[in-house]
Amino acid sequence: MILKYITTISFIWGCALSVQRDNDGKTPLMLAAKNGDIDLVKSLVDTGANIKHAQEEGQTPLIAVAVQLESLNLINLLIDKGADIEKRDIEGNNALIWVTCEGSEDTVKALLSRGSKIDVRGKDQATPLRCAPGKGHLDIVKYLINKVADIEAEDNSGNTILIWATWNNHSDITKFPLQSDKGADIEKRDVDGDNALIWAAREGSADAVKALLSRDSKIDVRGKDQKTPLICTAGTGHLDTVKYLVNKGVAIEAEDNAGNTSLQWATRNNHSDIAEFLLSKA
Ligand SMILES: *[C@@H]1O[C@H](CO)[C@@H](O)[C@H](O)[C@H]1NC(C)=O
Ligand SMILES: *[C@@H]1O[C@H](CO)[C@@H](O)[C@H](O)[C@H]1NC(C)=O
Ligand SMILES: *[C@@H]1O[C@H](CO)[C@@H](O)[C@H](O)[C@H]1NC(C)=O
Repeated sequence: MILKYITTISFIWGCALSVQRDNDGKTPLMLAAKNGDIDLVKSLVDTGANIKHAQEEGQTPLIAVAVQLESLNLINLLIDKGADIEKRDIEGNNALIWVTCEGSEDTVKALLSRGSKIDVRGKDQATPLRCAPGKGHLDIVKYLINKVADIEAEDNSGNTILIWATWNNHSDITKFPLQSDKGADIEKRDVDGDNALIWAAREGSADAVKALLSRDSKIDVRGKDQKTPLICTAGTGHLDTVKYLVNKGVAIEAEDNAGNTSLQWATRNNHSDIAEFLLSKA
């Protein structure tokens, strides 16, 4: 009887304490989670702290732990104690999107095994797979694709994983989805009208250009403002890629919709090595 009474008191006391926030709006539960203090998190939840209410600026303890600590024990504890695995922060990203962006492969696997949805949409309508190439994490990309993530999912700018990886100049990732039997749409364009080949040329990744062409990406494609791959790479100043495209027989004299050729773009942007090479081929 006395024990029960004491337990009740401590439960009520715990409730009152555990919802107090410090000046930054952090609850004790959030602080304990961020410190990776598993025992304290357990005690706080058992004495009535509400996991669903513990947030600061829209960040949940689960997101904080997943991103900062990558502690699988604590992640599992929070989920066991009722954390909402799909809960988003104010930017619109949930825990899975965050850890995919950050490249924490074990945490990605842990969240998926706990039922996090593989094709969830976060900020800009990006899926985890679209986020994965941001910092160049090929292993995570492979894992997600093997788990049957939607390879054609586009964010609200029309970027698929293929375009995103190419734009971020990760040629190893650019090549991977093409080689998988899921076959990404190689000609897919973003909202500006640029496809992966245009981006690979603009980034100056001769490697990615080569891979895309070997997969039958059309060499005479026109992107934004009717620019050709050669115009894009001449403008950004990548001689290797210029040489590769010219050797492939692209039209050196092609003009964009303002009537400018690759030579004009190279000259305007001070890439004299490229201008001289183009002149020697004209
Ligand atoms: C992209 O990567 C290639 C090497 O693969 C490099 O030569 C090029 O400078 C990079 N482009 C940018 C914009 O950093
Ligand atoms: C493109 O052409 C326009 C006129 O046709 C000119 O004003 C502009 O400077 C050119 N841009 C480049 C990069 O050569
Ligand atoms: C090209 O070089 C000139 C002279 O060095 C400089 O004034 C101009 O700003 C440069 N233009 C670009 C696009 O870098």
